[in-house]
Amino acid sequence: MPRFLTLDDVDVKGKTVLVRVDFNSPVDPETKKILDDTRIKAHGKTTLKELSEKGAKVVILAHQGRPGDPDFIPLDQHAKRLSEILGKPVRYVDDLYGEEAKRAIRELKEGELILLKNTRSYPDERKSKNPEEHARSEFVRELASLADLFVFDAFSAAHRSHASVVGFIAALPSVAGRIMERELRALSRVLESPEKPCIFILGGAKADDSLKISRHVLNNGIADYVLTGGVTGHLFLAATGVDLGKPNMELLEKQKVLDLIPGIKELMARHPGKIRVPVDVAINIEGRRKEISIRDLPTEYSILDIGAKTIKEYCEIIRKAKSIVVSGPPGVYERKEFSKGTKEIFEAVAESEAFSLVGGGHTVAAVQELGLGDKVSYISIAGGALIEFLTGSKLPAVAALEKAAEKKSV
Ligand code: 3PG
Repeated sequence: MPRFLTLDDVDVKGKTVLVRVDFNSPVDPETKKILDDTRIKAHGKTTLKELSEKGAKVVILAHQGRPGDPDFIPLDQHAKRLSEILGKPVRYVDDLYGEEAKRAIRELKEGELILLKNTRSYPDERKSKNPEEHARSEFVRELASLADLFVFDAFSAAHRSHASVVGFIAALPSVAGRIMERELRALSRVLESPEKPCIFILGGAKADDSLKISRHVLNNGIADYVLTGGVTGHLFLAATGVDLGKPNMELLEKQKVLDLIPGIKELMARHPGKIRVPVDVAINIEGRRKEISIRDLPTEYSILDIGAKTIKEYCEIIRKAKSIVVSGPPGVYERKEFSKGTKEIFEAVAESEAFSLVGGGHTVAAVQELGLGDKVSYISIAGGALIEFLTGSKLPAVAALEKAAEKKSV
């Protein structure tokens, strides 16, 4: 577990506290309405509620989307939703660090909250600079001059070396918020001396990330087995020398992942028997599911799921596990005929007594859709940051908070 200060180490009553949360949510491209409020709820019910109840003057910083993208929208809806969650007003201020924002901050009373304009409206927000460089920006200087404390709670944005992510940590006494703590505690439980056997179930479309994660968890003795499915399963299967057939090989080519095969081979040779690939698959014959053994490959049809034998083999490993990480569904679960692999594997994870951690947008959506949300031990609200963490990278915000704690600047 990284070492940094938390809300337990500070007295916030009457203090002006800047809080960086991650409210970035899926948005309907047509109506521009937020489609899911998981992150708003998570921060609202923990860190923001606590700060407000303890009498802090709470100034919330958050981003939504990327400039130019359809989900780059103002944060007024987020403020409204947060206010419903907290049961008290949260004023949206359509300014980030100009006169309007500064006046709103000065006028705050104990326990009150405001949400400032999308941090990505500041043109240099996403420039990757180190904390000290960002701390010198006008944005950070102006807001920091009005605040007593910075609380970083946006674990899911902690992999970005952005101004509002790392800049304030270099400029103000800084601590981690409750979501940051919670995510890191859960992740540390599976990455630092996990209870064994420890398995990683890697599916979904991002085969390149799966390779990086596999490399980290196998080379460092974290995982006992890596079970592959989805496009990850395709690629790892191809690395064993299996020709998957035209549509499937074309998919891998389109995703530009075929050149990862030598690296996968090397990893498999280094850890014999530890990386499991499907032994059978489900192909899509005009909407119909047909299961075939990998001995019957290549196929002219698309592979959309793992087959029954693979499911059985994986479930046996899952049943014996004491720690499980799931990132990416094993099949195209959105299509009923091809949801079997995802359903049965995720049910086995939910039934197991292991500490189970699931993360990533599609994985979490599948877990919720299957009604298994309450049965897994921990659901991470992070996407890219989770992947980075699982690959063993030091996240810039974590590094900055650790440095701040060393200086004991609170
Ligand atoms: C996320 O949703 O993963 C974070 O908010 C980071 O967003 P980004 O990938 O646009 O930086």
